[in-house]
Amino acid sequence: MQKAQIGVYGLGTMGSALALNMAEQGIDVAVSNRETEWLDAFMTEAGSLATHLHPYGELREFADSLTEPRVILFMIPSGAPMDAMIEAILPLLSPGDTIIDGGNADFHATRRRSADLATRDVHFVGMGVSGGEAGARHGPSMMVGGSAHSWQQLQPILTAIAAKYEGDPCVAHLGPDGAGHFVKTVHNGIEYADMQVIAEVYGLMRYGLARDPHSIGGTFTGWNAGPLRSYLVEITGKALGYDDPITGHPAVDVIKDAAGQKGTGRWTVIEAVKLGQSASMIDAAVAARSWSSEKETRVQAEVILGGDRTALDLGEDVLEAAFLAARILSYAQGFRILEAASLEYDWALDYARIAQIWRAGCIIRSALLDDISDAFSADMPGGQLILAPSMAAKLSETIPALRRVLAAAIAGGHAVPAMAAAIGWYDTMRQGRGTADIIQAQRDFFGHHGYARLGEAGVHHGPWWD
Ligand code: 6PG
Repeated sequence: MQKAQIGVYGLGTMGSALALNMAEQGIDVAVSNRETEWLDAFMTEAGSLATHLHPYGELREFADSLTEPRVILFMIPSGAPMDAMIEAILPLLSPGDTIIDGGNADFHATRRRSADLATRDVHFVGMGVSGGEAGARHGPSMMVGGSAHSWQQLQPILTAIAAKYEGDPCVAHLGPDGAGHFVKTVHNGIEYADMQVIAEVYGLMRYGLARDPHSIGGTFTGWNAGPLRSYLVEITGKALGYDDPITGHPAVDVIKDAAGQKGTGRWTVIEAVKLGQSASMIDAAVAARSWSSEKETRVQAEVILGGDRTALDLGEDVLEAAFLAARILSYAQGFRILEAASLEYDWALDYARIAQIWRAGCIIRSALLDDISDAFSADMPGGQLILAPSMAAKLSETIPALRRVLAAAIAGGHAVPAMAAAIGWYDTMRQGRGTADIIQAQRDFFGHHGYARLGEAGVHHGPWWD
């Protein structure tokens, strides 16, 4: 029997969608799953694509069915299950084989696994896959970290199944070991921030402008035809248009206002801080999800502290511009973290390429990413998106709206943590002279920590020590 070009292990939502996508591209795929009873159901679901799919219940048969050097994609829960899987498959592999972790893994674990497997001459790829089930089935965006050898093996397959933006496949080899998983983590961090900004803008229209969900949905749908065009704005517009079939109320009104999180947003914030950075908008978005889950406390606090929110006088155009400013700033924070990590881990990340592969297939795909990729392709300092002339021009157009929205929202008691974090960062960064001089004075005053004097080398102490 002809050997399969790739093995996909793990036929959950994402694994099965990716295997079907590959089969549709004419790629022969060996499939396997821990629960072997899933295999029959999967083959039935595959229909006519089954001719390209070869199920194996035994791990050894699965490994033996692959062309060498082998390529095996694991779509299983990250963490301990991945380590256990590596242990199980390793004796069945040969030098030069590649195994891929396509889950949302912590990039530190990916670096550790890459280094461990390199000693066995097996290549480990950490690959971020974005786009949910529909993306995986019809074209995801994929962020690959690993060796050049693995990329050579993978490129034809991934290029075939990737989302295409005007013909350009949304997949790239971004660097060694953990680079792909790190970029995916930051993608998710930006996803958190964008979702939170959308929620804040929704809240202003709902509670400040007293508009109903259907009409707000119409506004998002309208914005999706302009500079805010993006998958998240599109689905928000659509979701707000639905009614709950049980109560007949708008669907959003019967959903508990407590958001879950699996951890990638939190990782982005933690890594940013470790890198000496601060993704304050992503932090605000992670925090807002945590606060949202304290539903009981909020219900009590509304009685004790008062939950008044005043009516607002804000037009749609002002909200649209404010949202755009906030979106630019959240992407800018995300790219700033990518730059810090690239320097720390010596990845030489290509920011323009990252923006390009986020233009289709992934959850944060948006019109703005096309402008961002152009900005990075032009002569631009490092990963500092706010310094790109085109982005600086967009910011100067939209920041006044962000200020107006924030001033009204904060004065009126509306919660806007991510947008408020955006302006705090923006206003800090645009001051050549800030206020950290007084921080340094305090540190030296109470702890003799010393400070640098402007234009002078060395460590100095203040006159309070004389
Ligand atoms: C994607 C998504 C995907 C997943 C997130 C959701 O890019 O396709 O980001 O990876 O939906 O992990 O994360 P939370 O459950 O933490 O919101």
